[in-house]
Amino acid sequence: MSKMESERLFVKTLTKTLKRTLCEEINENDKGLEFNLKGWVMHYRDHGSLIFIDLRDYSGTIQIVFDETISPQSFKTAKKIRNEFVVSVLGVVRIRPSGTENPHLKTGKIEIEARSVELLNDCETLPFQIEEEKEAGVNELMRLKYRYLDLRRKKLKENIIFRSNFTFSIRNFLQKKGFFDIETPFLTKSTPEGSRDFLVPSRLNIGSFYALPQSPQLFKQILMVSGFERYYQIVRCFRDEDLRADRQPEFTQLDMEMSFVNKDDILSLTEELLSGVFGELLNIKLNLPFPRLNYDDAMDTYGSDKPDTRFEMTLKKLSHIFVNSSFNLFKDTITGGGEVKGICLKTGSNLLSRKDIDELVSFAKEFGAKGLAWTKVGENKTFDGGISKFISIGERSNLINELNAENGDMIFYQADLKRIANAVLGKLRVHLAKKFNLIPKSKFNFLWVVNFPLFEYSEEEKKIVSVHHPFTSPKLSDIDILISDPLKARSESYDFVLNGEEIGGGSIRIHKKELQEQIFKILKITPENARLKFGFLLDALSFGAPPHGGIAFGIDRILMLLRNENSIRDVIAFPKTQKAYCPLTDTPSKIESMQLREVGISLLKK
Ligand code: AMO
Repeated sequence: MSKMESERLFVKTLTKTLKRTLCEEINENDKGLEFNLKGWVMHYRDHGSLIFIDLRDYSGTIQIVFDETISPQSFKTAKKIRNEFVVSVLGVVRIRPSGTENPHLKTGKIEIEARSVELLNDCETLPFQIEEEKEAGVNELMRLKYRYLDLRRKKLKENIIFRSNFTFSIRNFLQKKGFFDIETPFLTKSTPEGSRDFLVPSRLNIGSFYALPQSPQLFKQILMVSGFERYYQIVRCFRDEDLRADRQPEFTQLDMEMSFVNKDDILSLTEELLSGVFGELLNIKLNLPFPRLNYDDAMDTYGSDKPDTRFEMTLKKLSHIFVNSSFNLFKDTITGGGEVKGICLKTGSNLLSRKDIDELVSFAKEFGAKGLAWTKVGENKTFDGGISKFISIGERSNLINELNAENGDMIFYQADLKRIANAVLGKLRVHLAKKFNLIPKSKFNFLWVVNFPLFEYSEEEKKIVSVHHPFTSPKLSDIDILISDPLKARSESYDFVLNGEEIGGGSIRIHKKELQEQIFKILKITPENARLKFGFLLDALSFGAPPHGGIAFGIDRILMLLRNENSIRDVIAFPKTQKAYCPLTDTPSKIESMQLREVGISLLKK
C-alpha cells in the first residue's frame, strides 16, 4: 500500500473525539509521551518478568511491554491476557533497545511501556489464527462463518477501508459534477438484464411477486423523463446466476444516467472520474483517453469482447495461407465458409509437455472446439509434431512470417466457423498466459469496446436476443436495416474493460416510444407482453422523454482488480459462497410453514 493510501486509512481528528490514540499514529518523535491505546491482542509473549503484546487496532499494530519492576499491578493484569482479548492500555512511548527493532512494522522502532491496563473483554479459543500468513491454511467456509474474525486480518480490513475511500471519492466527484444520488426500489418488477430474478412473495397481494432488481435500469431512465438530467447511485443489484470468482448474487454497481448527452460525453466523463479516483487513491496517473476497440476487432484479435491487452499472443488470420492447402481439414473449412486462425506461444515447445498438450486439447473442447491442432517450430523454419506433416514448406514459411514465430515457439490452430475459432483461441490465449505467468501484474490496461451488434442469435432460446438490453439504441445509421437485417445492426453501446475483466457497460437509450416498440417486436415480445412487462416505460417514453444514456460499473470487480485479489469475495464485507450461501448467518434457510402460508406458498413435496 502506498504511503498516501495508508495515511488515508485513519482520520486523524478521530483521536481527539475518542480520547485515544491509534497504534500507527505514534512514532519515534513521541518518545516519553503518554498515550491511551485500545484494541485487540494479536500476539502475547511471556518472558518471565517481561510480557510483550502486539496490540492491533484498525490502523495497524504496536508493541506493548509490561515490566514487573515498572508497573507490578499492570504486569499482574497482563498475566491474564490471551490472544484477541480487548484491552485498554495507558503507557509511555520508548525507543526499542538496539537490535530489537522490527523492520516489518511501521511502529517497529518504538514500543509502549505500560503504566496501566484494563481488560475490556476476553475471547474464546479461536477457530483459526488471525495472522495474515496463516490465512492460506484456513478453509474459506470457516473464514466466512467467522467473518468478523476474518475481517480482523490486515489485508481484508485494508480492502474494506479502501472500498469506503473508493466510493467516497466517486461520490465526491459526481456531486461536484452536478449528479444527484437518487434511490430506486428494491421491491420491484423484473428487469431484463439477462439473468434469473430473485423473487419476493407479496403477503398483501397473494399470488403476486416482487422481483429484486438486476439493475436500476428502468428507474434511471424514468428519472431522466422526470428531468433530473444527471443521476447516480451506488446500489446493490441482484442476479440469480451461476457464480464464479467475479460474480456474486448481490453485487454493487455505480449506476449513472445522463440526459442530452452523446456516447463520447459519457465515455469522457467516466474516464475523468476513474482517472481522478486513481490519482487520489493510488497515486497513479492514467493516460486519457482510454483506447477504443471495435467489437469486431476485439473478437478478431483477442477472441474476446473483454480483451486482456497486457500481453500479446494475438489471434492471426491464417486462411489465406491454407486456401490451396493439401491439408483437407483446413482447406475444406475455408471452402465451407469457416476460417483458420492461430496463436503463437513464445518458447512454447520448451514449456509444454505431451501431457500439457493433451490437457490443452480437452480445454479447447470445453469451448466448442472439435480439436486443437499444433506444431512446434524448430531451427531453420522446421516444424515438428502435431499436424507438421500436413504443412508444406511454403506454408511453414508463411506461417512463420504471419505469427512472428521463432525456433522453440509453438503454434496452435483452429479451423472452424469464425465465431468458434475466435472463442476457442481467445480462451486458450488467456489460459496459456495465466499458466505461464505471461501477464505483467502491475499494469492497468483500460479500454472501451464499442460498436457492438445490437442483437445476436441465441442457440439456447432459438431466437434473436439483445446483446446488451432491449432499451439500447441502435446506431442511427443502422435504423434502416433493423427489419431487413437485424443481426447486422450495431448499437450505441459500450463496455469498459480492465485487464480482461468487464467492469462496466452502458449505452445511449431509445427515447422514442415507437422505436422501443419496434425493438420489442424484433425480439418477438408481443405488444400484450410488452405492455405487461414494460408498459410503465412505454408510457413514460410517450410523455416527453429526453435523449439520454448511461453506464454502470461493477464496483466489486474494479476493487478486486485494484487490490490484486483473485475473487470479489475478498473486497466484500459479507459475501456469499459459490453456492450463494452465507455461512455466517446460515442463509438461505428453511422457513416456518406458517410464514409460507401467510404469503400463500406451499412447497412441492420432493
Ligand atoms: P451490466 O449487466 O453490464 O449492465 O452490469 C454492469 C456491470 O456490473 C458488473 N456485474 C457483476 N458484478 C458482480 N457480480 C455479478 N453477478 C455481476 N453482474 C454484472 C459487471 C458489469 O460490467 N443496466 C446496465 C447498465 C447500463 O446499461 O447502464 C447493466 O446492469 O462489471
